Amino acid sequence: MGELSRIGVAIDTDLLEKFDALILSRGYTNRSEAFRDLIRDELVEKAWQAPDSPVIGTVTLVYDHHVRLLNEKLTDLQHKYFDHILSALHVHLDHDNCLEVLVVKGNASVVRKIADSLISTKGVKHGRLTITGSGAGL
Ligand code: NI
Repeated sequence: MGELSRIGVAIDTDLLEKFDALILSRGYTNRSEAFRDLIRDELVEKAWQAPDSPVIGTVTLVYDHHVRLLNEKLTDLQHKYFDHILSALHVHLDHDNCLEVLVVKGNASVVRKIADSLISTKGVKHGRLTITGSGAGL
């Protein structure tokens, strides 16, 4: 962390009460950390919108492994992008359903493309891409 700067923020009382309730429900013990996290979130979001920005993402997939050739398709896609997929976690949720969480690293456009390819594969019931930064500069 760099040098700390103190700022004053004028904010509508009703809005501040809602903000306080929100951050309390999320476990923040003070406003400063909540503000910092909001700012970092916006910075990551902004970086993520530039196609060439280096990002890290997790792709979460839920699918029925009985769907014909689905396992093979998902594995083929992961091998196609092997140099971007750092790790894969597989959990057998029940008799039918599997959960996979993949850690994907690369430029924002590549990470998005990989996630879209996986999530849009027929038979995937739910998929979600979460993007974060490397932590550097935040
Ligand atoms: Ni499984």
